[in-house]
Amino acid sequence: MSTYPIYLDYNATTPCDQQVVDAMLPYFSEHFGNASSKAHAHGWYAEDAVSQARQQVASLIGADAKEIIFTSGATESVNLAIQGLAQLHATRGKHIITVATEHKAVLDVCAHLQWQGYEITYLPVDQFGMIALEQLEDSIRKDTILIAAMYANNETGVIHPVADIGRIAQQHSIPFFCDATQAVGKIPVDVYADCIDMMAFSAHKMYGPKGVGALFIKKRNPLLDISPLVFGGGHERKLRSGTLNVPGIVGMGKAAELCNSMMASEAKRLTDFRDVFWKEIGSIEGVQWNGHKVQSLSHVANICFTMEGGDKLIKMLSKYMSVSSGSACSSAAVEPSHVLKSMGLSDAKAHSSIRFSFGRFTTLQEMMTAIEAIKKTLSRLS
Ligand SMILES: Cc1ncc(COP(=O)(O)O)c(C=O)c1O
Repeated sequence: MSTYPIYLDYNATTPCDQQVVDAMLPYFSEHFGNASSKAHAHGWYAEDAVSQARQQVASLIGADAKEIIFTSGATESVNLAIQGLAQLHATRGKHIITVATEHKAVLDVCAHLQWQGYEITYLPVDQFGMIALEQLEDSIRKDTILIAAMYANNETGVIHPVADIGRIAQQHSIPFFCDATQAVGKIPVDVYADCIDMMAFSAHKMYGPKGVGALFIKKRNPLLDISPLVFGGGHERKLRSGTLNVPGIVGMGKAAELCNSMMASEAKRLTDFRDVFWKEIGSIEGVQWNGHKVQSLSHVANICFTMEGGDKLIKMLSKYMSVSSGSACSSAAVEPSHVLKSMGLSDAKAHSSIRFSFGRFTTLQEMMTAIEAIKKTLSRLS
């Protein structure tokens, strides 16, 4: 018997894997050294642990360890990449291209830059949440200094044609920044094959701790000079000053290593789960799939319940399961999801949509219990 509430909000955050917790624990007390203390063994021990984690994180995305900057999470990485680049390249141009369905971390940085005099092009998406590559090409101007597009959408799981976007950016010698927070650790990501110049991601979305993330910055690319946002001791190649969060970084490294080894089997298991889920829920009248059925993360199902009272469903389900009505990061706001609206959904349909996201610790029994709870709740709506 599954216990309520069942956690089906893995896109908001994931539980720390116990192996990650075990790897982190010694770095709080026993090995508490400052990784920047160069003169003694406590410092060296911490520095070695950070080096190992940097290597583990780099291996997950096909990068070199020197290309990884540790931050406090994806939001900070996004800010560092976009603002840091915009500041240094303002004399070359002030035009940035991004996508209407990006996470607020990207959209709000762009809005801030717009306020400072930069021009932002927001590429639209179609009903499936996909951009048109021709539109991207057409939007490129002489003064375009950055293309920012996410890997996989946090609300729908839709996966963008990242390698194509990267190639277009490369052909025009424009840096390509990718927010890959939802993709890293879930699907294979190779920054070189995908022609990504800078990439943000976060530990807590891949069974690591909260409050730690990374920014990949491709080396040997003069167009990728970025300015730090935080000044101080010159840590992380002078790009992110402040004493390193050694336990968090060790946890992110371990999480990356686990994802590397478990990704394929996990994706297969979760694809099977999602298929069962959709077979059961999708056959109910008035239920619609939001997003792309194929170009999509296998553990995400964003579903619109168009029947009368569908907008009340999420509240009624909360005693059975933890799910999301949109981006958890902006859930304080009651506005309909900007992602679903960009895909053409009405306010009413957006309010009646629920994101179910499964993960490493979701069991088949939990899935079946959740399906039963949804059916039971829907029958009460009518
Ligand atoms: C696509 C995407 N980008 C950025 C973030 C922000 O990540 P963090 O919580 O690590 O700051 C999230 C979190 O939901 C996300 O899904």
